[in-house]
Amino acid sequence: MNLTLHVWRQANASEAGRFVTYKATDISEHASFLEMLDIVNERLISEGQEPIAFEHDCREGICGSCGFMINGEPHGPLPETTVCQLHMRVFRDGDEIWIEPWRATAFPVIKDLIVDRSPFDRIIQAGGYISVRTGGPRDANTIPVPKQNADLAMDAAECIACGACVAACPNASAMLFTAAKVSHLNLMPQGQPERDLRVVDMVAKMDEEHFGHCTNHGACQEACPKGISVDYIARLQRDYRRAQMRRPGDLVG
Ligand code: SF4
Ligand code: FES
Repeated sequence: MNLTLHVWRQANASEAGRFVTYKATDISEHASFLEMLDIVNERLISEGQEPIAFEHDCREGICGSCGFMINGEPHGPLPETTVCQLHMRVFRDGDEIWIEPWRATAFPVIKDLIVDRSPFDRIIQAGGYISVRTGGPRDANTIPVPKQNADLAMDAAECIACGACVAACPNASAMLFTAAKVSHLNLMPQGQPERDLRVVDMVAKMDEEHFGHCTNHGACQEACPKGISVDYIARLQRDYRRAQMRRPGDLVG
């Protein structure tokens, strides 16, 4: 198949970017979207041009490294599919495809399609941990976990920190990401000692990193390649209110 790509090219965060048009010719419909970009990059390199910078690692939909906008949709047109798992067969021969990085103040462009998602790391650092005693591990079944909680925690832990939820949100809110990360620990017995501080500190860090607030658009859930539900945002709100009632002196606003 032959395609026309309009790709956002930007040297760094301080320089202006622009769309540049490229032809992607003789692309197999079985190629993944990233393989298609690899082919385009090989051709650019052979012509002495700068290849298109994009992020990737596992290419199996599990690491969260990849991700950019394809025709205005985070990770492209397929639901619950990362860019690395998207294949060219979902496009038609002759299509024009617009490719650009996540757009959010909190995620400045590093180069072309790569953005700085380190604010996510700092939200995790603010509360995404548990306290454990050193020594031998306890037998697994000495800490019973209700099945419903285990399932909910596992679903929340599917978040791969890709940032699509932020890119999809008109407020560039990181609430779905933060809610998933708070919930997967707050639902487990091991997460209880820091439960209140976790939600307070992670929400405070989210605000500090210039993410917007949630106004219930729900675009995050639609864009999420792991199907994380906005129900986790409601769960975060409940945990936050509970912490606020317990430790009002720790909270701002
Ligand atoms: S909640 Fe979904 S869209 Fe947001 S960072 Fe996690 S996996 Fe990506
Ligand atoms: S490269 Fe790992 S999720 Fe896409």
